[in-house]
Amino acid sequence: MPILDKPPSLPYRPAHMREDGNIMVKPSDVLDRVLVLEMVRVTEAAAIAASRLVGRGNEKAADAAAVEAMRAALNELDFDGTVVIGEGERDEAPMLFIGEKVGRRRRGAPRIDIALDPLEGTTITAKAGPNALAVLAIAEQGCLLNAPDVYMDKIAIGPGYPKGTIDLNRSATDNVKAIAKAKGVKPAEIIACVLDRPRHEKLIAELRKLGCGIQLIPDGDVAGVIATTDEDTTIDVYMGSGGAPEGVLAAAALRCVGGQFQGRLTFRNEDEKNRARKIGIEKLDRIYRLEELANGDVIFAATGVTDGSLLAGVKRLKDGRMTTESVVMRASSGTVRWVKGEHHKA
Ligand code: FBP
Repeated sequence: MPILDKPPSLPYRPAHMREDGNIMVKPSDVLDRVLVLEMVRVTEAAAIAASRLVGRGNEKAADAAAVEAMRAALNELDFDGTVVIGEGERDEAPMLFIGEKVGRRRRGAPRIDIALDPLEGTTITAKAGPNALAVLAIAEQGCLLNAPDVYMDKIAIGPGYPKGTIDLNRSATDNVKAIAKAKGVKPAEIIACVLDRPRHEKLIAELRKLGCGIQLIPDGDVAGVIATTDEDTTIDVYMGSGGAPEGVLAAAALRCVGGQFQGRLTFRNEDEKNRARKIGIEKLDRIYRLEELANGDVIFAATGVTDGSLLAGVKRLKDGRMTTESVVMRASSGTVRWVKGEHHKA
């Protein structure tokens, strides 16, 4: 499997590095460096399984295939893993539910927490749209927020901006103005990525009033957030609400490559509030910063299922071989590896 270190886009200062060049995130003794590549095997397995169902109009089957493959791949690994962000609560998800133990779990095996989404973009996959991914993040126990499956208001920018440039307590207009000022451009030159949903009507109108460019995405806000870190996408900011679990996964990626992120859980009813309380969240309107969503030495991996801004999707060649494209990053080293895989028919 060739490993390509794609040069990161600028302005670039990995999350692990302060302005003075000193390292901020200590390498974890629990996360063996071998796990970096093992994580790619896991997301590749899920992406390949889901890719068989691209464009087949069956979201459930695509998700189930990815879940099963990711679970099997995780269970081959020498760690004692606990799913903290998964397919749902135990009674609603047969596999990879929150709290499920994965890995070989031999005595003395490292204990790690896992946030995963075997298929981020089930509808995209069913419709053969862009940016479906298989994603996961791992960290030492207790380092990933155990988020309930509710919505989260999110705002994210890539690396290179002064601390505090974005603030969820401010209006979209004020945030865009602050980003534009820091970038040295007019607010109308800012490009925002927003999920195309009726609930974002007001936000979109506000951004249009400023003259901003808006990339409306049908689904897949993990890729939407990560796009802010890559200058090639031209996206400056991600705004709007999406899944809270996806917020933790996106935050894990930003911990590795740098950038700013804030998230606040939003609740549609009492049942959703109770779900949050059940997992120990007391202050329901709290704004979570990057380190509060994903802390310490985090490893993040993703493999493309369908072609997207971040990664190419799984390709099936005439002779039965398959190619995959993945990215894997680690917070303590700031390393970002782009991995192209070639897989032979099983
Ligand atoms: P799924 O893969 O679970 O379908 O999630 C796709 C997604 O677009 C996420 O990226 C996003 O966070 C969430 O759904 C938004 O939820 P909704 O579709 O309800 O607006």
